Amino acid sequence: MNKGAVLVLGARSDIGMAVAYRFAQAGYDIQLAARNVTSLDDDRADIEIRNSIKATLHEFNALNIQAHEAFVTTLPELPIIAVCTTGYMGEQKESERDMTSASLVMRSNYEGPSSVLGILANHFEKRGSGTLVGVSSVAGERGRASNYVYGSAKAGFTAFLSGLRNRLSQHNVNVITVLPGFVNTRMTAGMQLPIALTAQPSDVAASIVAASAQGKNIIYLKPIWRLIMLVIKSIPEKLFKRMTL
Ligand SMILES: NC(=O)c1ccc[n+]([C@@H]2O[C@H](COP(=O)([O-])OP(=O)(O)OC[C@H]3O[C@@H](n4cnc5c(N)ncnc54)[C@H](OP(=O)(O)O)[C@@H]3O)[C@@H](O)[C@H]2O)c1
Repeated sequence: MNKGAVLVLGARSDIGMAVAYRFAQAGYDIQLAARNVTSLDDDRADIEIRNSIKATLHEFNALNIQAHEAFVTTLPELPIIAVCTTGYMGEQKESERDMTSASLVMRSNYEGPSSVLGILANHFEKRGSGTLVGVSSVAGERGRASNYVYGSAKAGFTAFLSGLRNRLSQHNVNVITVLPGFVNTRMTAGMQLPIALTAQPSDVAASIVAASAQGKNIIYLKPIWRLIMLVIKSIPEKLFKRMTL
């Protein structure tokens, strides 16, 4: 039975590619969307052959919001699930010095992902089915001196997903917010990450596939991050502003 297609936005990311493989294993066709997407042709062929499904490539730039409607309407079919993994951390110090750099971080994590998921949401609403998944971050749960530009953009994206979920709940469309803590990817390469708090891209992918099947709303990776963020959010501002986090 044809299960329909899963669109992976930001498929060149470690998390995006793991998501694509995992949904392909579950029998979905896969639409890989990314910048310079032709570089993914070997992966596309591998996903197809291993799983006997159809995988296609689609050029996509999250920042080119004027092109997002055409991007969606020219897909070979409207996907049943869309997962947005695009994001850009940038350098906090650089973002403090240069507002153009800060703006790139804000647009890459908030404006671009919200634009494309918002357009997909309109199409899903009209059809009356589908699942939208946004990969945000626990960094959006409270602004910290060490990464508040990235964190504020993720906070905006998390709020967008929350509102979208609320709006679409009567239209048989589910919206899942994914809140990873640390994940071992290109984005965190070179950082010293605590093993117990660090997920692998395959863990994130497995959780997204399970959450889609179960109609979940918000998932933390790893689950311990829910508790950690609960504690961090409960620290009074008076104390928090003196802490180094
Ligand atoms: N790694 C972590 O610890 C962690 C924690 C929390 C949340 N996250 C989030 O998880 C998601 C995936 O990140 P990752 O860790 O797998 O890192 P990654 O490999 O750096 O993935 C980020 C992806 O976003 C894509 N991207 C950035 N700007 C884009 C644009 N304008 N148009 C299209 N694609 C764009 C990049 O494309 P290119 O390949 O073309 O550069 C890259 O493939 C991100 O949203 C990130 O913020 C990661």
